[in-house]
Amino acid sequence: MRAALPRHTRAWYILATSDELTRAGDKPLARELFGKPLVLFRGKDGTAGALLDRCPHRNVPLSLGRVVKNRLECAYHGWQFDSAGVCGFIPSLAGPSEGRGRRAPALAVRERQGFVWVYGAFDEEPRSEPHRFEKIDSPGYTTVSRQVEAGGTLCSTLENALDVPHTAFLHRGLFRTESRGITISAKVRATAQRVEVEYIGEPRPPGIVGKILSPSGGMVTHYDRFLLPSIAQVEYKIGEENHLLVDSVMTPVSDFVTRIYAVVSYKMRIPGFILKPALEPLAMRVFAQDARILERQSETIKRFGGEYFMSTEIDIIGKHILRLLKAAEAGESTPDESHEVALIV
Ligand code: FES
Ligand SMILES: [Fe+2]
Repeated sequence: MRAALPRHTRAWYILATSDELTRAGDKPLARELFGKPLVLFRGKDGTAGALLDRCPHRNVPLSLGRVVKNRLECAYHGWQFDSAGVCGFIPSLAGPSEGRGRRAPALAVRERQGFVWVYGAFDEEPRSEPHRFEKIDSPGYTTVSRQVEAGGTLCSTLENALDVPHTAFLHRGLFRTESRGITISAKVRATAQRVEVEYIGEPRPPGIVGKILSPSGGMVTHYDRFLLPSIAQVEYKIGEENHLLVDSVMTPVSDFVTRIYAVVSYKMRIPGFILKPALEPLAMRVFAQDARILERQSETIKRFGGEYFMSTEIDIIGKHILRLLKAAEAGESTPDESHEVALIV
């Protein structure tokens, strides 16, 4: 019954924001990825390093240590490791400090657009580069970043972020209103790297928010995308002037804990400083409802000793997420495919 959870390690994941790492100063940050303890630190030269959080000498967490120049010093006997995991100093030792068995396994790090990314496979040369947030620096756009933790598996949390049918039900009255009985069409396009669902024929949302955003009515252009390895991207265009892009980059902390780094960029008819105070509490309420349901889903999966999923054709994106992640983990490619699904909103 239990499908093994996919672990696509040859890919980039966010471990911290640049601010968090800078604020930590001499103290390293303890982190976790796929259940593996990691330590993140920034040398005095500004370069970030990520190592397995275990000193090769006596198994003490390196995250208990401190940064000395460009190295991380263990709190027990003071061995020092650079960002490649090489031991460069052992106090009291007369001979050379370096040695093969004295290395700490290291992860490649890239720091970009305010986030610290690590490549999930130890001591490997990355085969790709991290995701770029497209609108973060674009003129006319306001960007807001938040991080939250959900008690769900990576796949369930990704599916939740991209699942339309639950919005009118779990978030009744908040995000979408109850079904208006309008049949729309969802065009699904999948490649080996991503799945995109385009919703066609969705009218402007009713209610005050929709009216302010687009007084002339107009259609909504709405895309939901899953991008390997762990990004849920939601894009809305309402009328001519309003554009919203939400990138939720997820970090699989452990089997049932997923950290979400959400980057929301928008360009709206209404200025950002008016929109932000109104929309932020709403977004957090929506998230709290999602987090609660994911937590209960995880509890039930654990209680029954595995997952049991029964889907219909309107559970559009979940099966693609699992398929792409499993293929990527195995180093395989999946064929392109496309189809169309009708759903009532
Ligand atoms: S345990 Fe780390 S230096 Fe001894
Ligand atoms: Fe939701």
